[in-house]
Order: sequence, then C-alpha cells, then structure tokens
Amino acid sequence: MQTMLGEKQLAQTAISAENYAFLQRYIYQESGIVIDAGKNYLIESRLLPIVKQENLSTLNDLCSLLRATAPLQLKSRVVESMTTNETLFFRDLSVFDALQKDILPKLIEARRNVRRLSIWSAAASSGQEAYSIAMLLKEFGLEGWKVQIFGTDLNQQILDKAAAGKYLQIEVNRGLPAKYLVKYFTRAGLDWQISDALRSMVKFQRFDLRTSMSSFGPFDLIFCRNVLIYFDVDTKKQILASIRRTMSPGGLLALGAAETTINLDNAYTRVVHGAATFYQVP
Ligand SMILES: C[S@@+](CC[C@H](N)C(=O)[O-])C[C@H]1O[C@@H](n2cnc3c(N)ncnc32)[C@H](O)[C@@H]1O
Repeated sequence: MQTMLGEKQLAQTAISAENYAFLQRYIYQESGIVIDAGKNYLIESRLLPIVKQENLSTLNDLCSLLRATAPLQLKSRVVESMTTNETLFFRDLSVFDALQKDILPKLIEARRNVRRLSIWSAAASSGQEAYSIAMLLKEFGLEGWKVQIFGTDLNQQILDKAAAGKYLQIEVNRGLPAKYLVKYFTRAGLDWQISDALRSMVKFQRFDLRTSMSSFGPFDLIFCRNVLIYFDVDTKKQILASIRRTMSPGGLLALGAAETTINLDNAYTRVVHGAATFYQVP
C-alpha cells in the first residue's frame, strides 16, 4: 500500500516530457549547456532545492513560473544551479608543471622589456585555477611587473566565492601543496583565507563565453578548461575562434584533459610540454 502511494506521488511530481524539453531549451539558451535526454536525476538534484525554497510543489510548477513572470533572480538561480563548478587547486598537475618549468620562464624572458603579463582563466568557477596560476607567478618574483589574471564565469554566485578567496579545509586539501598553504593562506575560523597579495593579482568578472570578447585581451595564456565539454560542436567552434582572437601572437591555450581544438578550429597548433598539451596560436 505504502509503495503504491509512493509511486503515485512520484508520478505526480515527476517532470513531464514537455517540461523536460522546455528546461533543455531554456538552459541551452541561457548558458549553452546541453542537457541530454534522460538526465532527470541531474535536473532533479539541481532544481528540486529551488522548488523547495520557492515553496512550490513540483518541477512542473517551477517550469510554469519560468515560462511566465519569474523574477530575473530566480531565472539566474535556475541556470546557475545547472552549471557544474567542480574544480581544485593545481588541477591536472602536468599542466602546472609545464607552466612552472617551461612556459612561464620562456614567457617571462620574452616579456622582459615590457614587464607585463596577461592571463585569463575563462571558466574560473570558485577561483582555484586562477589562484594556482597566481601562486606560480608569485614564485618568480616579478617585482615592478604588471601581472594581471582575469577570472570569468557565467555563475555569479561561484564568482563571489572566488573573489572572497576563502576556502574550506576540504578544498585546500585537494591539490594545494602544503608549502603554498603555509605561504599564501591564513586561518579564518574553520576556513582558509588566501592572502591579499594573491587576491589583488586576480580580477573576477561575470562573463558568458558565448558573447563578444572583442574588448578582451591580448592574453599571453588562456585557461579554458573543463567547460567546452558541456557545449555542442557549434558553440565549441564559436568559442575557440573568439578566444583565438584575444590571444597575443604565439599565445597558449590550455584545455581540459577531455577537450581539444582538433576538428573544431584548425588555426591552433597542438604543442606538447612534458605530459601536458597546449594549443598555440600563430
Ligand atoms: C567544471 S568548471 C571548470 C573550472 C576550472 N576551469 C577547472 O577546470 O577546474 C566549469 C565552469 O564553467 C562555467 N560555465 C558554464 N557555462 C558557461 C558559459 N556559457 N560561460 C562561462 N562560463 C560557463 C560554470 O559555471 C563552471 O564554473
């Protein structure tokens, strides 16, 4: 009897096929993120908390609200909830090894006259990538240089966390070498606060990668990692072409381990540094 009731309730609260398709279109339009068919568990785990917070009964009610007059803030929360913000300090260590041993020394040498470096973390999430780059750069001294790291993301909530530079113990346990924890962080209650010296090197700003980058750059290095995987082929092509135009001649692009420019934008040359792959513009 109880099971039957449970199933009945479930049938009533399950998202309709029409609303599933509506959410797929809505999320795609607002972020470029493709949600495949049959990802009901994903939609439910991300959006049911909003249903609850808004005192709604079902995901279908949330869809009705989104179709009608939902406040902008609710619309953003829905889109932000569908982004995956997984990140960690020094993610894919081989990339940072190449940066430290090979790429940065050469870049610093090449820029010695202008004493200027410009780097973009293009899907910055909560900032660990941008701050990892900042820590490596700090180790090179670079007194009197203008070093700018630009961190952007679609998700304003996650960017606020990035800008605050405050991390949980579990977050600093993931990938951050102890020597950098000691050097660049202080205790803030149970959390860890990154130093002002590092925070001042990074500027965070909300930015949708599908929009015009004409005012950006030129960047010497761009990290656009683990975000293209969420997009369709046309969106990937458009973003890779736009990114290319924001780079200095010879600039390097780092993508996620499951991402590539191959068959998407042939103007990049694949270059291997140790165990890491980068994509270079002419
Ligand atoms: C998995 S995280 C990657 C973080 C970091 N780059 C890394 O590799 O560790 C993907 C990020 O892409 C962001 N994102 C998704 N769609 C975006 C878009 N259209 N424009 C900009 N950022 C987007 C998400 O908000 C999320 O923070």
